[in-house]
Amino acid sequence: CGDTIALTPPMGWNSWNCWGCAVDAEKVRATAKAMVESGLINHGWSYINIDDCWMRKEGANNPMIAGKPRDDQGNLLPNAKFPDMKGLTDHIHALGLKAGTYISPGPTTCQGFEGSWEHEFQDAAQFAEWGFDYLKYDWCGYSSVVKPDSLENLKKPYELMREALDEVDRDIVYSICQYGWGDVWEWGEEVGGNLWRTTGDIYDSWSSMAGIGFAQNKCSPYAKPGHWNDPDMLVVGKVGWGPNLHDSNLSPDEQYTHISLWSLLSAPLLIGCPIEQIDEFTMNLLTNDEVLGVNQDPLGDQASRVMQNGSLEVWAKDMEDGSKALGFFNRHGLLAKDIKIDWDTLGISGKWKFRDLWRQKDVGTYSGSFMAKEVPAHGVYMVRIWPAK
Ligand code: GLA
Repeated sequence: CGDTIALTPPMGWNSWNCWGCAVDAEKVRATAKAMVESGLINHGWSYINIDDCWMRKEGANNPMIAGKPRDDQGNLLPNAKFPDMKGLTDHIHALGLKAGTYISPGPTTCQGFEGSWEHEFQDAAQFAEWGFDYLKYDWCGYSSVVKPDSLENLKKPYELMREALDEVDRDIVYSICQYGWGDVWEWGEEVGGNLWRTTGDIYDSWSSMAGIGFAQNKCSPYAKPGHWNDPDMLVVGKVGWGPNLHDSNLSPDEQYTHISLWSLLSAPLLIGCPIEQIDEFTMNLLTNDEVLGVNQDPLGDQASRVMQNGSLEVWAKDMEDGSKALGFFNRHGLLAKDIKIDWDTLGISGKWKFRDLWRQKDVGTYSGSFMAKEVPAHGVYMVRIWPAK
């Protein structure tokens, strides 16, 4: 029941942060093509996930989304922007990628499209038949039928879809999306989630990204292979939640912080920009294998905050080979800062070899303490350290 998949955090793309409801099959195909042609596929990026708005919306004026949402047997029907779902997933698979879909346990999704309410088993079977490998199951419209007012009610729709996914003959990564209610990190695994959202929606501002990222310490004990905390998708590259894309409002240093922190947190990494429009800076951000290797480490530990001093923080993640990944973060908005850590705080002793992961350069061997010098405002210094002989 989902225990042998997503053994490292899923890496891929999701349509929401760039296309919102303007998503269509052509855009998804363009993304998949670019994922391969840009070489991102060679760095572990593999899921191509369609978010909300692929279904039909009964009574809508726009003929591209209008129509009876199910056939006479109750089978889900995609809207006119997705004329051939099986053809689309076949195409994605033929490129060596995986395909993801989205729906809500309620009668409708967040954007008012058809949901799975009272069709859970049929829809899970449909997703498997279409060839999907990933399902994001987003609470939203479910509040119109069941109030999110008890732990039992919060768990119910997720347990039901888990049961339905267990009945299909296909491995489908199960992504629980309900904004962190009821401290979902404490029971996301119990209801069979491979990942669960721990927060509300992310936006491309420092306060949103840092507000979410630096609040993840409480979730650390619950991450493990097959079961991940999800602090929401990446807001790098061009984003816009619809047809009007803009460059991420995060500064370059803030984007390094974003990718470093999400890697240390063992967070699912879902790119939210159109891959075919990616620029060189964003490509570099998303193809550093030493940074991504921290995210994908098989031990599956999630970094914890080991030091906080005003706006300065150090987060540490244990790696499978006995090394540690460290992020020295400067949350100060204006000034570069030195950030010092001593071995007692890290719970280590002896000599340790330091490697700068963004620059992919050894920086030296240290004992007792280490000082990250002049970490830029809102920036990060990210290293991996090994015990030295
Ligand atoms: C919610 C989710 C988002 C996205 C939208 C789609 O807000 O949290 O990630 O899926 O719904 O409507």
